[in-house]
Amino acid sequence: MLFGGAAAAVALLVPWLPDPASEQAHRIDFVFWFVTTICIAIFALVAAVIVYSLIKFRARADDDSDGPPTHGHTGLEIWWTAIPAALVTSISIVSAVVLAKNEQLPNAPSVSAARAAQTSTQGLCRLRNEDPLKPLVVCVIAQQFAWLFQYPAYNNATSATLRLPIDTTVQLQLQSKDVIHSFWVPEFSQKQDAVPGLLTKLVITPNRLGTFPVICTELCGLGHAVMRSQTTVESKDKFLAWANARGKAAGGGGGPSAAAKTLFVDNGCDGCHTFKPAGANGKVGPDLDNLSEAAQKAGQPLDEFIRQSIVDPNAYVAPGYPKGVMPETFSSLPVEQIDALVQYLAGGSQ
Ligand code: CUA
Repeated sequence: MLFGGAAAAVALLVPWLPDPASEQAHRIDFVFWFVTTICIAIFALVAAVIVYSLIKFRARADDDSDGPPTHGHTGLEIWWTAIPAALVTSISIVSAVVLAKNEQLPNAPSVSAARAAQTSTQGLCRLRNEDPLKPLVVCVIAQQFAWLFQYPAYNNATSATLRLPIDTTVQLQLQSKDVIHSFWVPEFSQKQDAVPGLLTKLVITPNRLGTFPVICTELCGLGHAVMRSQTTVESKDKFLAWANARGKAAGGGGGPSAAAKTLFVDNGCDGCHTFKPAGANGKVGPDLDNLSEAAQKAGQPLDEFIRQSIVDPNAYVAPGYPKGVMPETFSSLPVEQIDALVQYLAGGSQ
């Protein structure tokens, strides 16, 4: 009782796990507590038997003799084999059920459609079916050292943060442009690798509103520790309003400059750069308010200079700034979006 109580207190009083924010995380938590309960029971039993034996059977001070030879105890051996076997089997079954449930998608497409999707666009994320919310597909593009999230159902709109509607099953389709990265949101409990040349998948059904960190959990180079983003779980209405606006902007609606400003902000450019027309005041990268001057220094026409800086940022690095800091993920933006950004930036720097 004493050892069981102490172990249970350590298990229950220390907040070991983050508050789950998805159905999958709740199931994983269940497995965790199922295994922990079994472990506490076994620990309490073993610790109690050891302590009891230490006291009861210890050698007396003047006793140098060996203990009597013992053959063993067949009955005891059968039980201590059978009970652990049953426990381990039950853990396997519970884990297998949770794994299967966590990979389940609502109205999954037919096998042939899924196969066609896999073979027609090797290594490329794509929409599974017509209903944009069943499941919502989000392409996750990982690259040293940034995440980019793309929404195929909304004109391939992109975002530097992952926005998700609550109580909606989403399928992440992960790809990497260079080395192996791994997607992890502690509150969602699951992890999935992004592997170059492969399309990996992860199913998440968020069920708690909030903003949670997205962390790269595979050592991927010097910037691994800063390969972070955020995911925001919001109401369906709020998500749809955002996604539709972003989709329209990605498709060129709503006025070119407003659309480009949305692109600029949603792709996270404002996090690193200063650019007055967008109200951005990031300090990590060069100020974008004097691009004409910078283009002259680089000896390139303005539009060409801006385009190259977006899609191939290391080809020319502004003096005083280190190479390799700006992610190359933006080369995967659709051409129209890059065009819009080039126009927007060129227009603001005159
Ligand atoms: Cu990407 Cu670590």
